[in-house]
Amino acid sequence: MSLQKIRSSRSLRLALRFVIPLVAVMTLLAYAVVPLMDKLTLRWSVRDLDIRSKLITRTLQEPLTGLLEQGNKTKIRTLLARATQDERLFAIGYCTEQGKILYHTPTFPDKLGCSLPNASAHESPSLLQLPRGLVHVAVNPVSIDGVPSGSLVLVHDMSYVERRSADTRKYILLLFAVLCLVTSFITVLVAHLSWRGWMTGVRALLRGEGMIRTFTKNSNSELQPLVGDLRALLRTIDAEKRIADDVTLSWNPESLRNLLYTQFTGEQILVVSNREPYIHVAVKEGIEIHRPASGLVTAVEPVLRACSGIWIAHGSGTADRAVVDKKDRVRVPPEHPDYTLRRIWLTQEEEKGYYYGFANEGLWPLCHIAHVRPIFRSGDWNQYMAINQRFAEAVVRETDREDPVVLVQDYHFALLPGMLRKLLPKATIITFWHIPWPNPESFGICPWREELLQGMLGSTILGFHTPFHCKNFIETVDRHMETRIDHASSTIFHSGNLTLVEAYPISIQWPTPWQESQPAIAECRKEIRQLLKIGEDCLIGLGVDRMDYTKGILERLRAVEYLLENYPHMIGRFCFVQIAAPSRSALEEYQTFDTRVRDLAARINKRFSHESYLPVHLKIEHHEPEDVNRYYRAADICMVTSLHDGMNLVAKEFVAARDDEKGVLLLSRFTGAAHELYEALIVNPYHIEQTAEALYQAITMPEFEQQARMRSMRSLVRDFNVYRWAARMLLDAARIRQREKLAAKIGISP
Ligand code: G6P
Repeated sequence: MSLQKIRSSRSLRLALRFVIPLVAVMTLLAYAVVPLMDKLTLRWSVRDLDIRSKLITRTLQEPLTGLLEQGNKTKIRTLLARATQDERLFAIGYCTEQGKILYHTPTFPDKLGCSLPNASAHESPSLLQLPRGLVHVAVNPVSIDGVPSGSLVLVHDMSYVERRSADTRKYILLLFAVLCLVTSFITVLVAHLSWRGWMTGVRALLRGEGMIRTFTKNSNSELQPLVGDLRALLRTIDAEKRIADDVTLSWNPESLRNLLYTQFTGEQILVVSNREPYIHVAVKEGIEIHRPASGLVTAVEPVLRACSGIWIAHGSGTADRAVVDKKDRVRVPPEHPDYTLRRIWLTQEEEKGYYYGFANEGLWPLCHIAHVRPIFRSGDWNQYMAINQRFAEAVVRETDREDPVVLVQDYHFALLPGMLRKLLPKATIITFWHIPWPNPESFGICPWREELLQGMLGSTILGFHTPFHCKNFIETVDRHMETRIDHASSTIFHSGNLTLVEAYPISIQWPTPWQESQPAIAECRKEIRQLLKIGEDCLIGLGVDRMDYTKGILERLRAVEYLLENYPHMIGRFCFVQIAAPSRSALEEYQTFDTRVRDLAARINKRFSHESYLPVHLKIEHHEPEDVNRYYRAADICMVTSLHDGMNLVAKEFVAARDDEKGVLLLSRFTGAAHELYEALIVNPYHIEQTAEALYQAITMPEFEQQARMRSMRSLVRDFNVYRWAARMLLDAARIRQREKLAAKIGISP
């Protein structure tokens, strides 16, 4: 059946539901009204005939009394007969004072005497039922010179009243029929218009558009409160479900797989990121596989392992080309392949413009606000656009359907969602922004701000780590673009596309992948101490970062220096190990930063080292995650002092590594993690003395307190692990897909 027919039959059914009872009520009313009208007509007629009879009596009185005095019987009869020529006066008779009928017309009924019939069948005593029909009888006195002489009995034919009643009845029924028709017509019309209004409303709701616009436009204001209630209810249900999920469900690879199986049966999942999860590096001995130092990779890799999808990334390793197949694909993880890594090749020039230039000299400092000025060049921007387009086309080539689920990662691909939306309009695009989002003023300095925002708004879901970053993003869009923002549902409508902007705090795998194989805590401590030549009675502070100016490494080292200065008994009893993975070293800002870190470490070491004691151990080199895990287990304190960080997974990794429930976490308040790990010692890294005092508090913290804090943080990281992060986004995506499918079914574009 066509959509048009379905709609008309719906309107018809709706209308019939109103019309049938209406006709029934009208018929009942008509049947109640007709006898009432009959009664009233009769009563009015009786009253009229009473008056009429008196009038006739008065008219006849004079000639009649004259003829009575003369005793002229013939003339009396003629007078009476003439009077009955009136069409309604049927018979007339004259009675004496004694009640004897003296004269009457031949039509005078036999059974009628000189008094009223007093017929019990009628409510009026003046009515009499004769075989010819109903008659009205009036008995009026006649007097001669004021002396009563007898009475006139006047009999009126009532058949005209019946005729009149029949006419009235006809008109009443006709009136009710017309009323019925008009009311039915109006009802059908209103029902039809309301249905259309409802449908428009429901469609707008499904599209997620602000109902206000639709309804003010259509003036269907009566639906507004209902829609408001409905949306509020849906949000409450959603929120409650989410809370219930959060509390009850424990997420792991298995439950994530189940979710994919139930919600995305047969769907294809693709991940797009700049950094690849496995880098093949050519070394003298052959090819080595490196796991990069990237929070993004740490989080997304276990998810893709559970989903078995395709990961598209820049092939940046020196031996990457050597291991791929003809279609630039390689199955990973190498030891147990679970998914496909599709590599995209970039020339040095492209990498310089897109990655080093626009992404890392422009967007990275722009979003982090860590006192390094962003640099924007048109050449970099052109490369950034071109590479985003290349990755978008790669997604189209890799997918075998028109509506895949694409997980776009980070600031390297702000334009990709918009490009992909054009190529695959039905795709579900989940973009996750792994770094902070600045305030509208800061973002406003980017010359291509509208283009970037437009690109991001091609996403179905746009995720940030914290509600604060979501708020900043929505305000930025509000400031710089013409869109429709629904703050209540946190959605932005732009160019026919609706984007949900939501906070999804990222996390790590739980339990850690080497849970079974990792050495015991004591063994790790022994190993690291031996490696770095740290004495048994020297506590170990640890920092694990990429060598990046946003990480607060200088501030951290200054706090260590301050501690040794102000708590001299800590010299020889506390040392600090900084693991710093070389990062973006082609950039001048990073080279300068590297030098400053080395210089500061050297200065501290120069000031406080003695014999075998080295206060700062700087390890500027790549470490595989398993090695880093051993450092976490060996440390007494972990310092995370980022000047600005989306989440910072090092904090969570340290907590996850400490199954002995010992160790203290010092955490910058400018990280997303500080909004979750309340039991850490929260510091402002810009405040050197405060950070140093917190460090001293950590060094002297009793074991029972360490345990209480660590236990609580561990339970949070266990429950809010990376599987929950992915599941929440995928569940939201599944809900949106269902809504879109429903919208398509009822014939509207969502
Ligand atoms: C941050 C970014 C990631 C990036 C990582 C490492 O965590 O959010 O997207 O992969 O830094 O940086 P790199 O430039 O080496 O990939």
